[in-house]
Amino acid sequence: MGADTNTGRVLMVGAGKMGGALIESWLKKQTTQPSDIVLVEPNVTRAKYFRDTYTLYTFETPEAINTGLGEATILFAVKPQVMDEVVPLYKPLIQPGRLVLSIAAGTPISYFEHQLGANTAVVRAMPNTPASIGHGITVLCANTHVSAEQRARCEILIGAVGQVEWIEDESLMDAVTAVSGSGPAYVFLLIEALAQAGISAGLAADLANRLALTTVAGAGALAEQTEDSPTVLRQNVTSPGGTTAAALEVLMADDGLQQLMARAVTAAKERGRELAIA
Ligand SMILES: NC(=O)c1ccc[n+]([C@@H]2O[C@H](COP(=O)([O-])OP(=O)(O)OC[C@H]3O[C@@H](n4cnc5c(N)ncnc54)[C@H](OP(=O)(O)O)[C@@H]3O)[C@@H](O)[C@H]2O)c1
Repeated sequence: MGADTNTGRVLMVGAGKMGGALIESWLKKQTTQPSDIVLVEPNVTRAKYFRDTYTLYTFETPEAINTGLGEATILFAVKPQVMDEVVPLYKPLIQPGRLVLSIAAGTPISYFEHQLGANTAVVRAMPNTPASIGHGITVLCANTHVSAEQRARCEILIGAVGQVEWIEDESLMDAVTAVSGSGPAYVFLLIEALAQAGISAGLAADLANRLALTTVAGAGALAEQTEDSPTVLRQNVTSPGGTTAAALEVLMADDGLQQLMARAVTAAKERGRELAIA
């Protein structure tokens, strides 16, 4: 393992869907040694899986940790609703050189500064569900205490499950959440709606479902792999007066998909702001 890929010690707090996907990606990509991953996971079955499968150090609580942490990254991957009972338990583990990385939706950097100390180095991340298969996109935001080395470390850790982008203005996190965090659900709905429309147009359900799913997946892969913009790709499949043009006339009308999507993203962004205040 090269020094450029060594992330150092990571204390993972919670190995559910997202935390588990991160651990498995690090081990697969060898960015982090099993002996450098310390897991706190009260779920006995999940802890046993990671201990038995990957020989990780696992503990039920942070107080039970009996191995050195060095300049560890403490990664919070628990549900936002348990943060108040979980995060304060880690205050004794905060030291200069250690970094807090949180993937909890809607939990601001100031929350961690308040709970763990104003000088704590904190990076807030917003991943999305395709991270579970290594195709996520995660937006990161750091406070002023995070060093360049710690930023690089976050890019390796989070980059193991997909692409990484940084924002400097944390207030944009609600907009990020509304686009990429919640976005997979919009695409799943698109698949459902396209399949349902196919069924209404006379196709058998199995065929309509397969056509819709494979079309969305294939178009997404094409859009990602080609240098053409989505606009050019759309124009390329739209012959004047043809079938696609007839459909796009409906989808691109004044009350069409663009306006609907703008309203959906605004609703998600506003809800994110309300939840953060609550
Ligand atoms: N899933 C996503 O697509 C996604 C996307 C963006 C952001 N996120 C964020 O990622 C975080 C994790 O989400 P998830 O979907 O991975 O949740 P999850 O599957 O429920 O995983 C959370 C894990 O933490 C464990 N846990 C509960 N209390 C704990 C404690 N005191 N100490 C350590 N671990 C504890 C849970 O155990 P039990 O099951 O026994 O409770 C579970 O294994 C959330 O904050 C969420 O907002 C998730």
